[in-house]
Formats: sequence, C-alpha cells, structure tokens
Amino acid sequence: MTTSPTSAARPPLSQDELKTLVGQAALQYVVPGEIVGVGTGSTVNKFIDALASMKDQIKGAVSSSLASTERLQALGITVFDSNEVDNISVYIDGADEIDGAGNMVKGGGAALTREKIVAAQSARFVCIADESKLVQTLGKFPLPVEVVPMAAQRIIKQFAAQGGQGVVRLKDGKPLVTDNGQWIVDITGLLITNPLAFEAEVSQWPGVVTVGVFAYQRAQVCLLGTAGGVKTLTFE
Ligand code: 5RP
Repeated sequence: MTTSPTSAARPPLSQDELKTLVGQAALQYVVPGEIVGVGTGSTVNKFIDALASMKDQIKGAVSSSLASTERLQALGITVFDSNEVDNISVYIDGADEIDGAGNMVKGGGAALTREKIVAAQSARFVCIADESKLVQTLGKFPLPVEVVPMAAQRIIKQFAAQGGQGVVRLKDGKPLVTDNGQWIVDITGLLITNPLAFEAEVSQWPGVVTVGVFAYQRAQVCLLGTAGGVKTLTFE
C-alpha cells in the first residue's frame, strides 16, 4: 500500500476542530431576515462565533441558556425573549448522543429545559456534533433529568426500579442549580430502545421538569464532524 505525502503529513482533526467545522457548516441553515434558535454547549459556541459574521443579515436569536445569551450579546447579536417570538424556522444545537433516527440525549450542559422549549418552538432542529456523539442506541452518555429538588431522591429510586443508577449533579461540592433554579440528576445504566415511549413516561413522573431524551423534539438534520469532513444526516 502506498500513502500520498499529503495524507501522511496531515494529522487527524481534533474534536475541537470538528466542532468548529460543524459550527461553521450550520450557517447554511440560518435564514436571512429571520430569528434563529440557538442552543448551548461547546459546539454551539463555535456556531455562535461563526454567526457573528452574519449578524447584520438576521433579526436576532432566541437563546436556550444564560451562557449562550451572554455570548450572543457580546458579539452584538440581539437576543429575544421566546415569548416575544411566534415561530422560529431553525434551531441549531449540539447533543450528547444522537441515534440514526435523529433522537438525542441532551443536557450535558444542564440547559435541557430551555433547549426543549426553543426546539418545540422551531420548525426544524439542526443538530451539530462530532462523530463521537453518534450511537446505535441512546444510553451510553449519562441521561440528564432536570428535577424539582425535593423530588430528586424519589426520582432516583424510580430510575433504580428500571435498572438505572442516579446521582445529583454537583458543582463545587453542592447540587448544581440550573438557569431555572432546579437540580439535575444524571442516570447511567439505561438502554433507551424506545425513545418516544421513554420520554412520554418519564415526563409524567412528579417532580420531573424535563427529561434529556429529545424524541418528540428530535433532529431533522445532523451535521456530523468526521475525519473526512462534515457529513449531513437527514431524518425528515
Ligand atoms: C447542553 C447540551 C449540549 O448540546 C450537549 O451537552 C453537547 O454539548 P457539547 O457541544 O459541549 O459537546 O445539551 O445542555
């Protein structure tokens, strides 16, 4: 086998570079003259940075977290309250896991509730992720669930009855408090074979604010950063 000097000399793209690639690629889905829905996380930060180049062509953004709002505003992009906006044509966000049908696990950045709200308001969800996020079945990444604090231990027991192990997410030794004043429990040991049924069931447990399975608000498109460049997966 012979290898060309160019391919031998080029080191594989880092995860950070893959995130930059998909963040930039997502610009093609932004509709000029409209408001764009913006998610949260390190991949979305790359998208926000790229969006700055288009800031004069859009009306502004609806944001899914205080962190994204700060970043958008720092770049001069107007952020609207979701209640001021009727419909959003596209929502761009990352994921902790995505399967072959566009179902996702989200909430690694603790922003899942606002992410689901903005996604529900949007006609189309474009997920941006590096290829490590693509899975056959959801459940490899700990499942984030935002809960009312007084229900945390009971919800952990409900997951234990289904074979999952739960812990309250901590920050600086104390329960992490979300933008909505709630806690996150992270659940491991679950294999989510029917994401729609799972999301519907867990969403009804008392004290659950939002479960991190996005099946009702699944992605229609995923821009996946791979060694060979950006791969577009469509699930429409
Ligand atoms: C935040 C999220 C993020 O989209 C998810 O955690 C992926 O983040 P990153 O792009 O940093 O890997 O759901 O709540």
